[in-house]
Amino acid sequence: MAKITSLTQDLYRFMLRNRTAEDQLLGELRRETEEKVGALAGMMISEEQGLFLRILVAAIGARQVVEVGTFTGYSAACMAAALPADGRLLCCDVSEEWTSIGAPYWRRSGLSDRIELRIAPALDTLRALPADPPVDFAFVDADKHHYVDYFEALLPKLRTNGLLAFDNVMWHNWMMDAANQDAETIGIREFNDHILGDPRIETVMLHVGDGLTLIRKL
Ligand SMILES: C[S@@+](CC[C@H](N)C(=O)[O-])C[C@H]1O[C@@H](n2cnc3c(N)ncnc32)[C@H](O)[C@@H]1O
Repeated sequence: MAKITSLTQDLYRFMLRNRTAEDQLLGELRRETEEKVGALAGMMISEEQGLFLRILVAAIGARQVVEVGTFTGYSAACMAAALPADGRLLCCDVSEEWTSIGAPYWRRSGLSDRIELRIAPALDTLRALPADPPVDFAFVDADKHHYVDYFEALLPKLRTNGLLAFDNVMWHNWMMDAANQDAETIGIREFNDHILGDPRIETVMLHVGDGLTLIRKL
């Protein structure tokens, strides 16, 4: 077994110090989310995860990006900031209430023109997506029991060498306990098993946030 460094709170703080600082508006959005939704703010991706998504979107030169699970718009703002002016981020969510917290921040950051929000079950939105233009990058962070469906709906729309990123694949370690049989935990287990050995992709699970699986379409 290769030697790995376990993440302690001290090491996590060290990690946070060793990265590009969070944009001021992103920090404000994070704080407003915490004030307005309390403990549910834990659904937001972490700061370094947002930066990681922004770097990925920029590095592959993505123009067409899809997000499944927008919440108060933090991850969307990170990805949209990496798009060119004519790029497009399609955000899928079912909550007007939560997404309306983020929309003013998208406007203030000058990103509104690049972001289209669809309030509908994400699976309906994904299945209705045209094949052209193809998707360059998608980030999935919504209901876990649909992860396999999201993967199967997105992959045909993704360009060769496009990337899919699925959040929470370590699921706080809950999926390791066989006694956990709730729908979300089962969904994460099924997704992790489902993509293994798929000849259409290559995949790696990264220890970022609550676990992030990155998939490249071959
Ligand atoms: C974990 S949060 C997303 C967090 C967001 N990516 C961020 O970093 O701030 C999950 C979101 O998925 C949305 N959601 C749940 N089920 C959905 C569905 N079937 N279709 C679309 N969105 C859904 C919820 O409304 C919620 O806003």
